[in-house]
Amino acid sequence: MPPVIATLRTACEGDIDAIVQLVNAAYRPAPGAAGWTHEGHLVAGPRVTAALLRTLFVDHSVILLLAEGPKILACVHVKAVGDAACLGMLATDPAVQAQGLGKLLLQQAEAHARSQFGSRRFRMAVLSVRPELLAFYRRRGYMPTGEAEHFHPEGGISQPRIEGLQLLWLEKQA
Ligand SMILES: CC(C)(COP(=O)(O)OP(=O)(O)OC[C@H]1O[C@@H](n2cnc3c(N)ncnc32)[C@H](O)[C@@H]1OP(=O)(O)O)[C@@H](O)C(=O)NCCC(=O)NCCS
Repeated sequence: MPPVIATLRTACEGDIDAIVQLVNAAYRPAPGAAGWTHEGHLVAGPRVTAALLRTLFVDHSVILLLAEGPKILACVHVKAVGDAACLGMLATDPAVQAQGLGKLLLQQAEAHARSQFGSRRFRMAVLSVRPELLAFYRRRGYMPTGEAEHFHPEGGISQPRIEGLQLLWLEKQA
């Protein structure tokens, strides 16, 4: 497979449909689909909708993209909350996962939060039952804060498939 040459850019509202498709394919794919990690077996329904994404186009909130020409390959949401930046919706197109794009975009999200929002901490919430993902973030310096909360789908658009699903908060100093 030839190496992916991706460029970084900020998403605009015209990207919403492509981001919805990418995020749902990465997080909640059909059984047997490509990708090394997803939550389709844990949560039913879409991860995002166009309506939900539209609410992210506000001050102190940005969606960063890695794209190859017109094709969006990866995305992440960065939102400033006090002196922290909350990172979410990190997703790589399943067809090009495990080629370094997720790590690259996470670094870019951190750099953006530092330079544009003055963030001193990066925070994210991860499902407690995804050890492979918790290990991925631990290798990038994200440690559990001890905070846990019941999984509550944003906008009520999805439903947990297992009882007692929890989110663990991870944090890294900027
Ligand atoms: C998580 C995700 C964004 C990572 O993106 P990616 O482009 O595949 O990641 P990269 O290629 O940059 O990094 C690959 C890392 O995963 C590891 N990895 C690859 N395949 C793996 C596997 N089968 N099991 C465990 N780890 C694996 C690699 O070892 C590498 O980590 P390392 O460099 O520390 O060794 C992507 O898999 C995704 O979109 N997943 C679905 C959505 C999701 O769960 N998002 C995060 C929610 S908090």
